[in-house]
Amino acid sequence: MKLGVNIDHIATLRQVRQAAVPDPVVAAALAEMAGAAGITVHLREDRRHIQDADVIRLRQSVRTKLNLEMSLAPAIVERALEVAPPCACLVPERRQELTTEGGLDVCAAFDDVARVTGVLQANGTLVSLFIDPDLAQVDAAANAKATFIELHTGAFAAAQTEDQLRRELDKLVRAARHAHARGLRVNAGHGLDYHNVHLIHQVPHVEELNIGHAIVARAVLVGLDRAVRDMLALIAPHSQSPLNP
Ligand code: PXP
Repeated sequence: MKLGVNIDHIATLRQVRQAAVPDPVVAAALAEMAGAAGITVHLREDRRHIQDADVIRLRQSVRTKLNLEMSLAPAIVERALEVAPPCACLVPERRQELTTEGGLDVCAAFDDVARVTGVLQANGTLVSLFIDPDLAQVDAAANAKATFIELHTGAFAAAQTEDQLRRELDKLVRAARHAHARGLRVNAGHGLDYHNVHLIHQVPHVEELNIGHAIVARAVLVGLDRAVRDMLALIAPHSQSPLNP
């Protein structure tokens, strides 16, 4: 499995003081040098962390792969078409939420999702849909002709008991298998940290994990290079596992 580092909260730290630092472009370069396979940012409609100028600069500076998380809002889609990142992940967005709380309801918003997916892919951007591990959502993502899904691991990460954890892992396993059978490529993310990430090796077909808060939180204390390498150490030894060839 590969690691995509979400650097939104580098920008959060900058925005709380409306300052120039820390610079997400510098953070992205450091994460890449530490071994990240990609850099992810979410250009939120409220611009609470990543700004338009950050996305433009990152598009020029990221050497691995820039993945833009984005809502279906027309102004954001327009931005994504201008920037033309190699990858985009369509996510739901609510103003009041602390973070992306649930997966995109592709079944309910099918026409919009399929249209935006088509427009972005025609512009050279591979599209991923951030969905809950639900078979109907997987089918809708395949029908919308997305290339990837990103399975929302938030419920798994929030599980309080062994039973809940097992149930949530089973949902992820079933969704990943179904996605693979439908020709979708599979990523996963949200709420993953240094304590739970090893369990994701039980989920087949996962190519990449997108991890943000846990890495930035550790980086504040031990540095970004170390925080990324620590996460890679938890991910890499299992990359030859039969479930993740
Ligand atoms: N994947 C998606 C689609 C997200 O929206 C987020 C949060 O921005 C993440 C992954 C990373 O989540 P976390 O910050 O909890 O690692």
